[in-house]
Amino acid sequence: MLIMKATEYTYLGRPEEKLLSVSLNAIVIFHCFLIALGIGFANGHCWKQQRRFGIVTMRNLGLGKKGMENQIEEEAHQLVEAFMQAKGQPLDPSLFISNAISSLISVVSFGYRFTHEDETFQKLMEAIDTLAKFGVSIFHAMYSFFPGFMKYLPGLHQKAFTSMQMGLSFAKEEIEKHKEHQGLHDPQDFIDFYLLQMEKSKGDPNTTFNEDNLAQCIVELFIAGTETTSSTLQWGLLLMVDNPDIQERVYKEMEDVLGSSHSICYEDRKKLPYTNAVIHEVQRAKYILPIGIPRRCSKDLNMLGYHIPKVRAEKVNLLYSRRLFRARVCLGEQMARMELFLFFTHLLRAFRFQLPEGVKEISQEPVVGLSMHPHPYKLCAIPRSSL
Ligand code: HEM
Repeated sequence: MLIMKATEYTYLGRPEEKLLSVSLNAIVIFHCFLIALGIGFANGHCWKQQRRFGIVTMRNLGLGKKGMENQIEEEAHQLVEAFMQAKGQPLDPSLFISNAISSLISVVSFGYRFTHEDETFQKLMEAIDTLAKFGVSIFHAMYSFFPGFMKYLPGLHQKAFTSMQMGLSFAKEEIEKHKEHQGLHDPQDFIDFYLLQMEKSKGDPNTTFNEDNLAQCIVELFIAGTETTSSTLQWGLLLMVDNPDIQERVYKEMEDVLGSSHSICYEDRKKLPYTNAVIHEVQRAKYILPIGIPRRCSKDLNMLGYHIPKVRAEKVNLLYSRRLFRARVCLGEQMARMELFLFFTHLLRAFRFQLPEGVKEISQEPVVGLSMHPHPYKLCAIPRSSL
């Protein structure tokens, strides 16, 4: 539904009732005594406070010597190394990419990256994956309408509860560790900044800064920040395999402008208009969240003669309505932009991507999940140095 007429604040809310696509809200409500926490599914005062804090903190984490850009560049190098190991043989890029992206969320949230073999990290990734699958499953729909009944039945919803609990307890363990070595004077990650904020808000009766909210924000960063960027990059590589001429033009632009020795940084996007345009085109052509995240009317609205009451949830195609819905827009947008540019350019500078021998094409049909991601596929990453 394309909304043409609405005030900026009319559609700020998220649905609170048990509707499709608000799985995590339903879980959080269920487990947290009817209080919606965090950013993505919270409303009202809680959402405003947490979101404002989240935006400022993401900005703070992007600055300084251990800034986000350096971390992303480091992770992009590691990703190139991981692809190198395949020595041009067919590889499934999805696991490597997801690991790299979730490592970055870990750096933002906890201040360190996991090794990909780390068992806890693997479990956390599985939990996030389960939550994503549950969100679009029949179990979610059934749970949304019959929560009282479904909670006694087996199914993916039970696994999703366990996963949510696992994510929250993991976040809480990290919070405890941070409290022991509290970086109040030199905050380095999301938890440090949040604990500092809790300290500052002590005594404020209206504060929503507390450990439950912090744990929820951390789980949300992993959910919102992993599959989205990872799916977009997977589409990017797939489209490059499918369009070798465009791939070569991107490579040539980088060579012409930067030469082969200059390492690439985010600022370079301004000198690489074609490359930058290709990344935007990947996002446009394979937009991963075509129906966005549901919104709830926070005010009664009269639209084209139809009365939309305050609590009604509407799915809104945010591609066309960005100006009106600015206040809720993606919290990780800046981070996602940097990740996409730096990962894409590092990979395309190091490799020529092509189909494995005998494979004629890769399906471009999306798998409908939390995001629209490609079906598992393999490609060959041929090192440019060997060409
Ligand atoms: C290609 C990557 C990404 C895409 C396409 C994307 C897209 C979106 C969309 C469409 C929304 C809903 C906004 C609305 O309701 O108007 C959203 C919200 C959100 N995103 Fe992203 N996102 C991406 C990456 C990230 C990253 C990397 C993070 C965190 C590190 C993140 C964190 C969030 C959060 C916390 C929200 C909830 C904001 C709120 O409700 O106030 N996203 N994102």
